[in-house]
Amino acid sequence: MFTRGAARNLLAGVVLAGCAVAGVGGGVSAGIYPARVMASPSAPTRGAAATSGMALARSPHAPQPATVHLLSSQSNALMPNGLALTPPMGWNGYNDFGRRVTAVIVEAAARAMVTSGMKAAGYAYVNLDGGWNLRTRSAQGQLQPNPRLFPHGIQPVVDYVHSLGLKFGIYASAGTRNCAGSSAGSYGHYRQDAATFASWGVDYIKLDWCYVPYKDYPSMTHQQVSQTLARQMGQAIAATGRQILYDVNDTAVRTTAWTWAAPVANLWRTTPDIRANYTSMVAHFIRDVRDYHYAGRGGWNDPDMLEVGNGAMTPTDSRTQFSLWAEMAAPLIAGNNLTKMSAVTRGILTNRAVIAVDQDRLARQGYSVASSHGHWVLTKPLANGDRAVVLFNQTDAGATISTTTSRVGMPPAAVYSLRNLWTEAVTETAAAITATVPAHGVVMYRVATAGRMSGR
Ligand code: GAL
Repeated sequence: MFTRGAARNLLAGVVLAGCAVAGVGGGVSAGIYPARVMASPSAPTRGAAATSGMALARSPHAPQPATVHLLSSQSNALMPNGLALTPPMGWNGYNDFGRRVTAVIVEAAARAMVTSGMKAAGYAYVNLDGGWNLRTRSAQGQLQPNPRLFPHGIQPVVDYVHSLGLKFGIYASAGTRNCAGSSAGSYGHYRQDAATFASWGVDYIKLDWCYVPYKDYPSMTHQQVSQTLARQMGQAIAATGRQILYDVNDTAVRTTAWTWAAPVANLWRTTPDIRANYTSMVAHFIRDVRDYHYAGRGGWNDPDMLEVGNGAMTPTDSRTQFSLWAEMAAPLIAGNNLTKMSAVTRGILTNRAVIAVDQDRLARQGYSVASSHGHWVLTKPLANGDRAVVLFNQTDAGATISTTTSRVGMPPAAVYSLRNLWTEAVTETAAAITATVPAHGVVMYRVATAGRMSGR
């Protein structure tokens, strides 16, 4: 049987054999980004991949040609650390606090993750983002936590997070500095820094991509440099012997990490930085959903963190982001201040029926089966045969959105049940799936063949 690992294997081989060299790069260009918001993507085709010779190799879920089997015998396909079998869930301080996160803020967030019920709902990682360390290294070449933000260093913060039964994540840059230029990067120190993180008990490393000295690689494309550095840091992490989830974010250099990162990392960013408003969130959704076929067990597309409860995001916008991210099997990394969130925000972040869609063990990213004038129908296959269906109204006016059970991939049956994952109402249908969807809103169903009420 053709496996996802085999697809990744083949892909790795193909990329190394020349596609990247030929410059299959620029997936995310500043030019197309806003313009695509209102575009109507032609799902469930292979999206952008369909235009390239690599299209079939890229999709683990598509029918595969015989030649794939020949190449699939190459080894080392799937990220071998055994982590992220479902998308990671957690919190990261960057979206709300920027680079001003302190030990006090991290510890308070960890406590709130427990007391809010988020830990019980599946959130595990408490992640420190960029800005935690100084621009200079110690005399021994070690990264140095900023003493104003972390007066006792990072280790006690990690210990505290662990004492609550949670995991700790940290940020590093593949280049010589972080993207703000304010902190030392890991370039030339991958082994040393991975060892330092492991010695602190770090469970998750986000590797950002700034100040990379491309002049050190005169004959390589940016994409090839990204692959090289991502692999080197991955090897450095593996050499520590500690199980550390590995998240790469090279979108600053506009490569297409989703085409090559699966054997290397557990997550790869598909978008630039998200902002706390509806337009940005939708642009990220549109960018991520088209490459659904790259995601799977152990390696996920990352359209960036949640803005639920932040900035200009209304409760409707927030519910929509949470639904779309779950449908896309995206990491659910809350980006709000957990110590001050409203009951509405907490209710969104802890909706277990929606979380179950994100965390479904079949490990498939949802995709679009219809998109017209900003009215979307998305479907995500689930392990028990159900489908998670999102009717998303991208527009500024309420609308009726309709599809059918066969259109969303359900097998023939006399009757189907539709469980609304936000209202919990259950209805039955012979075929039609129709709902009135408010502006910016979603209606999200779990569709099952009737007689079998799907579990959460
Ligand atoms: C960006 C990155 C963000 C955040 C930020 C911190 O490059 O995309 O997710 O990590 O750096 O400075």
